Amino acid sequence: MRRIAHALEAQLRTALERAFPDEVAEAQQAGTPLDPQLAPASQPEFGDFQANGALALARRLKQPPRVIAGAIVDQLAADSAFAELCEPAQIAGPGFINLTLRPRTLAAELSARLGDPRLGVPTAADDPVQASFAEVLAPVIVDFSSPNIAKEMHVGHLRSTIIGDALARVLEFRGHPVLRLNHVGDWGTQFGMLITHLKQVAPEALSTADAIDLGDLVAFYRQAKARFDADEAFQATSREEVVKLQSGDPVSRRAWDLLCEQSRREFQLIYDRLDIALSERGESFYNPYLEAVVADLAASGLLVTDAGAQCVFLEGVTGKDGRPLPLIVRKSDGGFNYATTDLAAIRYRFAAPPEGDGARRLIYVTDAGQASHFAAVFQVARRAGWVPEGGRLEHVPFGLVQGEDGKKLKTRSGDTVRLKDLLDEAVERSEADLRRRLAEEERQEDEEFIQLVATTVGIAAVKYADLSTNRITNYQFSFDRMLALAGNTAPYLLYALVRVAGIARRGGLGAGEGESAEGFPDPLVFSEPQEWALVRQLLQLDTVIAEVDEELLPNRLCSYLFELSQAFNRFYDQVPVLKAEEPARGSRLALCRLTADTLRLGLGLLGIPTLERM
Ligand code: ARG
Repeated sequence: MRRIAHALEAQLRTALERAFPDEVAEAQQAGTPLDPQLAPASQPEFGDFQANGALALARRLKQPPRVIAGAIVDQLAADSAFAELCEPAQIAGPGFINLTLRPRTLAAELSARLGDPRLGVPTAADDPVQASFAEVLAPVIVDFSSPNIAKEMHVGHLRSTIIGDALARVLEFRGHPVLRLNHVGDWGTQFGMLITHLKQVAPEALSTADAIDLGDLVAFYRQAKARFDADEAFQATSREEVVKLQSGDPVSRRAWDLLCEQSRREFQLIYDRLDIALSERGESFYNPYLEAVVADLAASGLLVTDAGAQCVFLEGVTGKDGRPLPLIVRKSDGGFNYATTDLAAIRYRFAAPPEGDGARRLIYVTDAGQASHFAAVFQVARRAGWVPEGGRLEHVPFGLVQGEDGKKLKTRSGDTVRLKDLLDEAVERSEADLRRRLAEEERQEDEEFIQLVATTVGIAAVKYADLSTNRITNYQFSFDRMLALAGNTAPYLLYALVRVAGIARRGGLGAGEGESAEGFPDPLVFSEPQEWALVRQLLQLDTVIAEVDEELLPNRLCSYLFELSQAFNRFYDQVPVLKAEEPARGSRLALCRLTADTLRLGLGLLGIPTLERM
């Protein structure tokens, strides 16, 4: 629909120009060009689009809006390209122009998608509604997952991983070069205390690979933290240990490498299960650039020394006393912090290669608790002049994961939930559901099938439950809800796909991935309102994907897929498909085929694996 919307917009502009040449030229010169204000119709009975621009023009000309709209509609009527696309335009209400696409326009759009692996979704470079070429070609960075070494990956990291991956997939599909960066916490004070503690209690862990596993490491980390908080001598040694590590001492470096490697392998197990691709570029990567960050800030006059610490005072962010809050970039002991590393990362990511990534858009997926951190570093980066013209910095915040009691997600014994256990439980429960269903249906399936379906559905359920809620709100984790076969859930959509593809297959025109799309009637012919509703829903895919690219809300795509399967059900309940006469039969099979293809593509973009049978 974006291609059509774009064509209509151009036709409306021409009509405006022809109807009001002087006003259009004048407005152009004044730098306030007239806009036809094309938008999707607010109600289906108004057609496909509406143009509201006549109202603004009427105010300017002090004339009745319906008269203005009438003049525009007359010009549209004289435009043969418009008449090709649309039924005659209608004036409604105070002066809206309603536009309804011709059935043959819709049918032709749909035909063009049969056998198109992109289902009519343009890449950003081919999108008729596109900002600039440079923007399309420059990398987009998605900074996501980003757990901390020697600590357990927790449900917050799981959300970041799932949401970040889905966004990266959509951006990649749109043709943007995407850098998926794992900004792991692999630097800083935690290593000083961990190394000091391990030297005393488990020295082998610092010199031999695999001497301990991540579970032990996490326990050692907790002990080290407790000692650090209680014991001043331990604190002092830990600080020396950090300095040693950061100055490149080979023994500390080796210990650090081993600890990172241990965690990395553990994280990878989770990424493999979730099918997540990520490049690790941890905080330590930016270590060589930290001095330059401070020097740059000093050179641009932003740096202030306050109580021994070097900081930048933030604009528009004040503390309780009404005074501007500082962002500390170098502590009084000379150390750098989380914010300094993020400043160095922004500077590096925007810098032109080979000194940096040359990115145009940086997207950070973390919990909403880090919103003020990102607001602060974004502001300082802008004021320091590191953000190129058109460069975008976006924090993609998400809410907390809560248990069904509305409190922070915990195990029954009150511990934090380990991700491995959480995924295991999802798969176990999905397996139990499946075995129950097979028994009810008296179906025999082999073990391989059962394992494949249980694993796919379990993982899909966890991902989809997260993606389908508006990420900004807190999110209640419930195995029962996410695994339900009814409602806006992964099992429902996976099942819808299997069913729709099955119908298309029975029709004999192919429905599997990559199967040929030959043999459908040309032109496609539709008559029933349920068919048209489904056609229009199918044609929204490109708009929804462009919206996710822009607004970074994967739940839009989830709702779209759910509404699509509902539109399909209404169609299939009320309109005969396999028993219909040609060309209705083939045209209806085309709807089945495209519904299946759209579900498969959409779920794929969310990182949800699909099944042929379940
Ligand atoms: N390691 C951080 C955490 O666990 C998240 C890092 C997010 N990315 C960033 N560039 N700060 O909370």
